[in-house]
Amino acid sequence: MLPATERLLLGPGPSLISPRVMRALSAPMLSHLDPQFLDLMADTRARLRRVFQAPPDAFAFAVSGTGTAAMEVSVANVVQPGTRVLSIVTGYFAERLAEMCRRYGGDVTRVEAEWGRACDPEAVRRALKQSAADIVTIVHAETSTGVLNPVKEVATLAREHGALVIVDAVTSLGAMPLDAAGWHLDVVYSCSQKGLGAPSGVAPIVFAPTALARRVPCRSFYFDVSLLEDYWLRGKYHHTMCASLI
Ligand SMILES: Cc1ncc(COP(=O)(O)O)c(C=O)c1O
Repeated sequence: MLPATERLLLGPGPSLISPRVMRALSAPMLSHLDPQFLDLMADTRARLRRVFQAPPDAFAFAVSGTGTAAMEVSVANVVQPGTRVLSIVTGYFAERLAEMCRRYGGDVTRVEAEWGRACDPEAVRRALKQSAADIVTIVHAETSTGVLNPVKEVATLAREHGALVIVDAVTSLGAMPLDAAGWHLDVVYSCSQKGLGAPSGVAPIVFAPTALARRVPCRSFYFDVSLLEDYWLRGKYHHTMCASLI
């Protein structure tokens, strides 16, 4: 049976959905290649660039799936066997991100912080001095503990050491200040069902030119950012995106 009454959703997500979003969800269905839908996709890219505060030449788009799908797109396109990854592990979702890097063949070193505490940039500096890294991973707002991590400071350290930074902004985008261009973030992903107040099922993500330049051959077809660029930028069929969610 469908729910008959409105729930008051007070967790980190899924969040309550505004009537405006509910109305948009019931708009007539468009095909995934309809010119009107391709225009909507272009408009969405521009709006997402603004939400992430990404540079104009960044590739901002949305992945079909939830935050975990966007996490996998991030990892699958910059991590390959032998990639040196420094994972900052401050809770359950940081653990998931580190594990995903391991599954894609990354050589993962961890900087741990006690659960409930933010990571210490000095510990990250020491770890980067001790062993070089190609990628640093960090969760901005760690939902499992409620901790906000110092992403800006960590991104600066990563850049000084020539590493790209992948930022999980699943719980922070739309809820906490996040400045992808100003903080020099290379890959940032989020979800639709938390700070943005929409249903789950489509996950915003942005690749800065720095990350696009260092992409690796992607083992996943569905999550290959080059194929997704062909769809989002050139209207070439890749998969049947749900137009109602865009
Ligand atoms: C910080 C963080 N990362 C990743 C995820 C995974 O997102 P999803 O459940 O939308 O796949 C969550 C989910 O709550 C999260 O809070």
